[in-house]
Amino acid sequence: MMVKVSRKAHFNAAHRLYRKDWSYEKNDEIFGKCNNPNFHGHNYELIVSVTGEIDQETGYVIDMKVLKDIIKDEVEDAFDHKNLNVEVPEFSTLNPTAENIAVVIYNKIKPKLEASLVLEITLYETPRNFVTYTGN
Ligand code: NI
Repeated sequence: MMVKVSRKAHFNAAHRLYRKDWSYEKNDEIFGKCNNPNFHGHNYELIVSVTGEIDQETGYVIDMKVLKDIIKDEVEDAFDHKNLNVEVPEFSTLNPTAENIAVVIYNKIKPKLEASLVLEITLYETPRNFVTYTGN
């Protein structure tokens, strides 16, 4: 029996979407308000889902306390109240779009899980805009 279990988390962070190798005008055309040189913030909502077999001894797919601690260490402590472009090394040269943030989160959490578990990251940048990454 494969079951998907999920945990929600939250962080606030600032970012700016732009490419250093593009002119301000081109960045403005592509990224609009998100190219504001003074940065802007989002209230990110994160859903981390783990799919796997139910352990016959514990009845768990994964101990939620373990998952909670991984999310705290890898995402909340690393990203919350940070300027992603300036303070988070993964985005020093990577545009911190919701897509790229989801991939970075996936790559940070996946090695902390048992290899047999399937990970899915859903990241809401706004209540209406969200992205999902499953490692493909
Ligand atoms: Ni933004």
